[in-house]
Amino acid sequence: MSENKTYYITTPIYYPSDNFHIGHCYTTVTADALARYKKLKGYDVYFLTGSDEHGQKIEDRAKKAGCTPKEFIDPIIDNAKDLWKSLDINYDKFIRTTDEEHVACVQKIMQKLYDQGDIYKGAYEGWYCTPCESFWTESQLVDGKCPDCGREVKLMKEDAYFLKLSKYQPQLEAYLKEHPELMQPETRYNEMYNNFLKPGLKDLCVSRTSVKWGIPVTFDPEQTVYVWVDALSNYISALGYLSDDDSLFQKYWPANLHLVGKEIFRFHTIIWPIMLMALNIPLPQKVYGHGWLTIGGGKISKSKGNYKDPREFVKDYGVDAVRYFLLSEVPFGSDGNFSELLMVERRNSDLCNVLGNLVNRTISMANKYFGGTVSKNVNLTDLDKEVIAYLEAMDKEVDEKVEALNIPNALSLIFDRLQRLNKYIDETEPWKLAKDEASLPRLNDVLYTILEGVRLCAVELEAFIPSTVANIYRQLNVEGSSFANNQFGNTDSYKVVEKPEILFARIDEKELAKKLEEAEKEAAAPVIEHLPEIGIEDFAKVEMTVGEVKESKKHEKADKLLVSKIDIGNGEIRQIVSGIAEHVKPEEFVGKKVIVVTNLKPVKIRGVDSEGMVVCAENGKEIEVITSSLPVGSKLR
Ligand code: MSP
Repeated sequence: MSENKTYYITTPIYYPSDNFHIGHCYTTVTADALARYKKLKGYDVYFLTGSDEHGQKIEDRAKKAGCTPKEFIDPIIDNAKDLWKSLDINYDKFIRTTDEEHVACVQKIMQKLYDQGDIYKGAYEGWYCTPCESFWTESQLVDGKCPDCGREVKLMKEDAYFLKLSKYQPQLEAYLKEHPELMQPETRYNEMYNNFLKPGLKDLCVSRTSVKWGIPVTFDPEQTVYVWVDALSNYISALGYLSDDDSLFQKYWPANLHLVGKEIFRFHTIIWPIMLMALNIPLPQKVYGHGWLTIGGGKISKSKGNYKDPREFVKDYGVDAVRYFLLSEVPFGSDGNFSELLMVERRNSDLCNVLGNLVNRTISMANKYFGGTVSKNVNLTDLDKEVIAYLEAMDKEVDEKVEALNIPNALSLIFDRLQRLNKYIDETEPWKLAKDEASLPRLNDVLYTILEGVRLCAVELEAFIPSTVANIYRQLNVEGSSFANNQFGNTDSYKVVEKPEILFARIDEKELAKKLEEAEKEAAAPVIEHLPEIGIEDFAKVEMTVGEVKESKKHEKADKLLVSKIDIGNGEIRQIVSGIAEHVKPEEFVGKKVIVVTNLKPVKIRGVDSEGMVVCAENGKEIEVITSSLPVGSKLR
């Protein structure tokens, strides 16, 4: 017996988070659909997902929570697994970078690369915050200070190991020339070439001493493995690479597809291939860099208030409405927009009106006219032949689109067929045929064509909306359906359920739009969080004076800051640095009479002296400078 062809597909491993949003679900649902599709097509599939658990951030969050990093992460991972379950994600393995096998594998990889001279000792330079024991890059600093605690940072160096990316650049470039298909969509190649390869690759820092929560480096126990070598190795450690049992690695490697978001594409198409070249193992066949799901063109994030736990959508609209939206709405490779209303519109128009309605009508008619039993069609009209040919062409067309990873187009090819079947009902008018005894054989043939058409479409849809398809199979009583028997006419006769079960009940879009609008208004209202009570004597300590802005310009080193000269009365001019440059133009600021806190201790902000503070109102999004029409020097009480 010949062995099935293998298909190894991966998602990125996710940073542990309690706030996975609908955007995070996009990669995983897509990978799940592809894995299911390949399995149904007869491939021996291995689908890997997991979590990326090391690093300073986790260590800090655990410290704050008063537990060890592992104790902190475990419930988060359980929660992530529950989310994937709610979306019918059917992975073969969930790898955690804290798994013993992964740790051992990464240590062996580092040691091997070190032994063969591809890793060398150097120095990592960055801005260090001593109390937080953290290094920051220049761009991470806030007003030149530690972004976590706001304290001073200093430029420091620490010993670290580096991977010789530069050594492998020529080999990688030659490989990419021969295998442009590695980078998908291929248009991303130019971006990688112009931004990273052309300027020349810099060696990569692969270990650190200041980050304690990481995999210890065997040849220098002071150091832990840093970010990408740890994370990327999951794709082979999960298969037992360099372990006593590497049978999965032998069977499934190289990966057929790494599915990743566009922001981590370069790590997967430059660093990862170089690691594999250095380890002398084959490169993956394809890395697909997909676009992001956005809300109103912007990022989805909890802090922006546009976050909703995807499980709420599953609860309200059904798992397949969420899967269908993610799979059909985002043009693959580009960004796509998400809104709850759009998801419901798609659900109503496609799943409810086209698919659900067709299944429902057909089952009702089969019951009404033939007690649920429909036998194979005998006499085919030209119309039947045309519809059947159209249905029979579907499998190949869909397969081509899925192979090209264009799932939205694959789905629309299937929905075109479902639409065609709805039209076929209008054309054949079964209710008229039913009136005439002599037309009953024709009515049987018409219903068979529709039932068989629905079945063929369901087979094509199974990977994408599996629970709905299982329901359709059950209602049509064709549970054994698969790609192996999806030729038209494979079903001898139908005996459908007596009462059709509604697949997707219609949701009132107008009502939902109103509800969402109200919720948005509520979310936009500023959250009132009160500070602890103070006495009037505390308030009296703050001296606030009306001042007039005489000069104002942007801070030379910080886009968000304005440096202004403000007259506070008695000829006294104060220089004040304020974080309002994104809200107020310097030329518009000049001449305004503002409120200044005049007894604030002077400080240096990004190297510039600031002697006071301008009072503003803010709601998290907007900032407004408070003004007064009283003369300069007036006091606030
Ligand atoms: N841990 C790294 C990956 C290491 S892989 C060796 C990481 N994790 S992540 O949790 O930040 O992101 C995981 C995946 O979710 C990425 O592919 C990312 O692109 C994807 N998405 C996160 N937000 C997204 C959207 N809004 N839309 C689509 N995908 C998004 O990166």
